[in-house]
Amino acid sequence: MNEHKTAISRTKESRPVRDLLKIGAICGRVLDYGCGKGKDTEFLLKKGFEVLSYDPYYKPIDMRTAGKFDTIICNYVLNVIEDEKARIQLFKTLINHLHNDGKLFITARPVKDITAAAKKGSWIKYKDGFITGKKTFQKGISGEYINELYAMAKTIISSNKLDHYVSNKLDHYVSNAKYSIICIQRAKFYPKL
Ligand SMILES: C[S@@+](CC[C@H](N)C(=O)[O-])C[C@H]1O[C@@H](n2cnc3c(N)ncnc32)[C@H](O)[C@@H]1O
Repeated sequence: MNEHKTAISRTKESRPVRDLLKIGAICGRVLDYGCGKGKDTEFLLKKGFEVLSYDPYYKPIDMRTAGKFDTIICNYVLNVIEDEKARIQLFKTLINHLHNDGKLFITARPVKDITAAAKKGSWIKYKDGFITGKKTFQKGISGEYINELYAMAKTIISSNKLDHYVSNKLDHYVSNAKYSIICIQRAKFYPKL
């Protein structure tokens, strides 16, 4: 529902991208999936990374020919998808574009953040989330819920050698509830950060 309207006009890169870069988690060929208006892509390009961006509304490129990536970031997309099957499908798509030793970072707005915004903006409860004043869908996403979605996605993904974790180096941001995050990579490379 009006997913594209959830894309904010950032004046600079998102916090997760800033944090991931700070801890050296971004490397190689990068995919910014659900890039919105593209500030993170712009930032990473300026830092010298090779970046491809995709968004169903702002950058609807054909992902079938996009190939594989060393780093995939998917920031604040999960919290705007209202259908759980589509959330699980998102994991599947992202994992299919991950190189063998690649890292996938999925972040989302945490429950605390959405609950406070819903109260302040008198958002209306809808399905397992809310309809905002802009008539968009938002759901607070906990780290546990991302793990659950990933567990469900794993059952439809052929490789069972994937593992996931949140780096200790990211604990600070996560425990401050700035965003929920998961890092997914193949088990044999775990933990890399
Ligand atoms: C809140 S914005 C985040 C944009 C950007 N990642 C950022 O952090 O600035 C959510 C974006 O997700 C996109 N989106 C919605 N459903 C999607 C899906 N199933 N797959 C990929 N992107 C999706 C929307 O078009 C929108 O641009």
